[in-house]
Amino acid sequence: MNKIISVLLLAVLAFCLVGCESNQQSKSFDKQIDKLLKQMTIEEKIGQLIQKNGDHSNLDELIREGRIGSVLNQVDPIQVTRIQKIAVEESRLGIPLLIGRDVIHGFRTILPIPLGQAATWNPDLVEQGARVAATEAASQGVRWGFAPMIDVTRDPRWGRIAEGFGEDHLLNGLFGSAVVRGFQGDSLSDPSSIAACVKHFAAYGWAEGGRDYNTANISENDLYDIILPPFKMTIDAGAASIMTAFNEINGVPATGHFPLLNTLLRDQWGFNGVVLSDWESVSQMQVHGYTPNAKESAYKAIQATVDMEMASTTFEENLMALIEEGRVTEKQIDDAVRRILTLKFKLGLFDNPYGHTAEFPQLLNDNHLDVAKRLAQESVVMLKNVNGVLPVSSSVKRIAVIGPLAEAPHDQLGTWIFDGKKEDAITPLQSIREYAKGKGIEIIYHRGLELSRSLEILNKNTLLNDVKRSDLVLLFIGEESILSGESHCLADISLLGGQIEMLKLVATAGKPVVATILAGRPVTFEVVEPSLDAILYAWHPGTMAGPALTDILFGVVSPSGKLPVTFPRHVGQIPIYYNHKMTGKPASDETWERLHDIPAEAPQLSIGNTSHYLDYGFEPMYSFGFGLSYTQFEISSVKIHNTEPKVGDTLMVTAQIKNVGQFEGAEVVQVYTRQLFGSRTRPVKELRDFKKITLKPGQSEELVFLIDTHSLGFHNPDMKYVVESGNYYLWVGNSSRSGEKMEFQIVN
Ligand code: BGC
Repeated sequence: MNKIISVLLLAVLAFCLVGCESNQQSKSFDKQIDKLLKQMTIEEKIGQLIQKNGDHSNLDELIREGRIGSVLNQVDPIQVTRIQKIAVEESRLGIPLLIGRDVIHGFRTILPIPLGQAATWNPDLVEQGARVAATEAASQGVRWGFAPMIDVTRDPRWGRIAEGFGEDHLLNGLFGSAVVRGFQGDSLSDPSSIAACVKHFAAYGWAEGGRDYNTANISENDLYDIILPPFKMTIDAGAASIMTAFNEINGVPATGHFPLLNTLLRDQWGFNGVVLSDWESVSQMQVHGYTPNAKESAYKAIQATVDMEMASTTFEENLMALIEEGRVTEKQIDDAVRRILTLKFKLGLFDNPYGHTAEFPQLLNDNHLDVAKRLAQESVVMLKNVNGVLPVSSSVKRIAVIGPLAEAPHDQLGTWIFDGKKEDAITPLQSIREYAKGKGIEIIYHRGLELSRSLEILNKNTLLNDVKRSDLVLLFIGEESILSGESHCLADISLLGGQIEMLKLVATAGKPVVATILAGRPVTFEVVEPSLDAILYAWHPGTMAGPALTDILFGVVSPSGKLPVTFPRHVGQIPIYYNHKMTGKPASDETWERLHDIPAEAPQLSIGNTSHYLDYGFEPMYSFGFGLSYTQFEISSVKIHNTEPKVGDTLMVTAQIKNVGQFEGAEVVQVYTRQLFGSRTRPVKELRDFKKITLKPGQSEELVFLIDTHSLGFHNPDMKYVVESGNYYLWVGNSSRSGEKMEFQIVN
């Protein structure tokens, strides 16, 4: 007992020492910052609030004059060192620059797109990936990465769905925090750490109609219960900075949103890091029709505590006048400068302003590629596998590889790959050929279509003949990288161009067909689904797409990804998401009035109707959390240990999981709850926890889920966060649609 107490005391002491040290550290920064602030002219202070693009015309001169605090998009280490030298050695006060870059999913080693990373349901691995990205970026002098993007979205038409972690706020919060930890490491002052910039604050993924930059009309409760929690989680994880959003939220542009930025983020959450605008989002407040001119845009942004303006020029042109007029105080400017300088101190830039490329591990080294490969493997979601067509059987001797995305080194990298190179990418075709060589398998390749969106099928006859003389078809279809990402939205998310026609043609040969779909969003393909024997959804897997997919196709590893987003059957079903409300007339198979079953001149009835589409019903194509494996898992003995917890208690749930199949594999066991009724209606299911576990055939393990009942709440009609007493359902399963319903009750 005494031993335990001494261990605890030591732990407390150690905690205090660490805490005291970091307090002392920021105090010592404060003194140095006070000193600097005293020396700075107002122009130099305003200069710290300005971020310019690396190709800005008189960049050197502006840096020399202390009129720039940060530069983005300069990643040539020689140039970075050169401009940093101007800042440190030639500007009056020698304040170093923050060098920023969109390090979205890797730097030179390209990891799967974030949506693919979310499909791993493996935050530890995502953290490792972010560490790889940070190390590579830092080696080139970049110390500020504009990620993670944690904009919850329910719209796969929106191109930037690729860049976030899907439709669930818990997933966005957990993966966002993993990226923050990976970027920032144990200490920002570690030369291989980069400051994270969580974006876009807020509701950017709620764009009307999935059209980028569009209006976010969102209820206050969805804003507070769905959109904002991931931001709070990443801030709690230590995120150094936040980027505002382009959109307006219920009529107020996010970049000038005083209640969200000033009141919530700063005052209530106590966020003291840097708030950066998005690219010209300050000046765009005028375009939105929210301000009459650039000066008022600058005013609104500063009032909302935006610290730094990216790209537009409203701060540099107007802040001085606003100060002179007494509308903006020098204290406001000092506070913003202090936040920016604190970040520069924390990053160790005053002591060590230059990246030392030679001291870093090489870009694209084996360890980095290995993390990229594992991420790519775990991101693959198997949606279908009939008759065990996968993994490819050893009896298969001739394979027809078909489709433009089998050999598209640029496109497999996905959107936002400023520093990735297609020359580094290993394509599926390359890897499959490599694998086949050693096994005596013949590979025949047909591109089929020039691009995913091309209409004309190339060499139709030879393609079909080659399919006919093959044992198996491996199709690589989907969409090119440029069809998702910023401002690349689609009104129709079905397989584009001639892909459906090509698939139908291939199917006529009667050979088993495996489709691997590479895409930046969920695409719809219901019409051809029956012709496919197996479907692997691979997103845009990055540099290591080839080796990762080959391992899966040939059974070296089993797929273990789960969907982080609901797949609609048809674009017209959007928004369709797992945590929807019940409505007063929920749909069911029995009440779905199918379009073609309705007799002519059927009478209009108002009784017995439910909420669905006549043509597409109410079910999605694939549910959130769904994904198959080569092996089978059995979840049993689910037990809620305290079925009547009080608010504040931890709910303890245990379950047994067993690999009852033939392959080693990983399963993601997911816990969902539903509050049966509340002061506001509650979603039919909400993800509360999950665990990913790898098991060998026959192996089993007990999983323990500890759910803080505080996390089961929501904002009530008075906009107070409450956890209400009453009845709850709970499910433990391997998708949002599985598991037996259990009950518990929160008591007062
Ligand atoms: C995007 C941001 C990005 C910035 C800088 C903007 O268009 O919305 O996410 O960080 O550009 O490239």
